[in-house]
Amino acid sequence: MTQPKLNRPDGIIIALDGPAGSGKSSTARAVAERLGYRHLDSGAFYRALTWAALRANIPADEWTALTPEQLDALDVHGAPEGRSYTLTVSGWDVSDAIRTPEVNAHVSRMAAVPAVREWLMDALREAGARGGLVADGRDIGTVVFPDAELKAYLVAAPEERARRRLREQGCGDPSAENVRAEARRLLGRDEIDAGRPVAPLAEAADAVRIDTTALSFEAQVEAVVRLARERAGG
Ligand code: DC
Repeated sequence: MTQPKLNRPDGIIIALDGPAGSGKSSTARAVAERLGYRHLDSGAFYRALTWAALRANIPADEWTALTPEQLDALDVHGAPEGRSYTLTVSGWDVSDAIRTPEVNAHVSRMAAVPAVREWLMDALREAGARGGLVADGRDIGTVVFPDAELKAYLVAAPEERARRRLREQGCGDPSAENVRAEARRLLGRDEIDAGRPVAPLAEAADAVRIDTTALSFEAQVEAVVRLARERAGG
């Protein structure tokens, strides 16, 4: 079993990944709360860069050519605050601004730029330097924190993921037909995510796979918390 790294003053690093709709973000937040750790939502960093690039009027079709200097100049920072990280651009808190439809529509384009991923890797590693962290997102256990003490890969049957996603969107109790249609969309996205050239969806070889299909949200959180306590040595 992996032993905790002694050079992390605040605790171990837990890396959570999984396909769209696997519940990795909400699980990461709840696990962090239970352990008294911080939640590092890596997607928020991609979102903040996207917001900053849009605000700086850099056309989206020029993002592939962004240099590290230009990325530095966007002045995006993630500062630990309470149980999470507050994302700022030029000192402004952009926590709400990064959840707008405009950012939703552009962020995957930003996340597909290799130079952006490279640049963010340093920012994410720096944010996690003290440990005591539950980090979620693509590449988090394979590239960003390959030495995380616990890597968990959350999976669930496509229909269950579809049901959860539809409920999240306020659809109440979705019809079987709606669930089937959403499941098809999710499977299509899995295929694109797994086949894309940059940061494809991939499970780390040493990840613990947790099938959450039959688990309640609480049970899913508990499964990760239990593993984390084992890895942290109690
Ligand atoms: O989880 P989210 O919706 O906030 O993620 C925003 C976008 O960034 C989404 O297109 C996935 C991408 N992303 C990524 O490529 N790698 C990460 N570690 C986190 C998010």
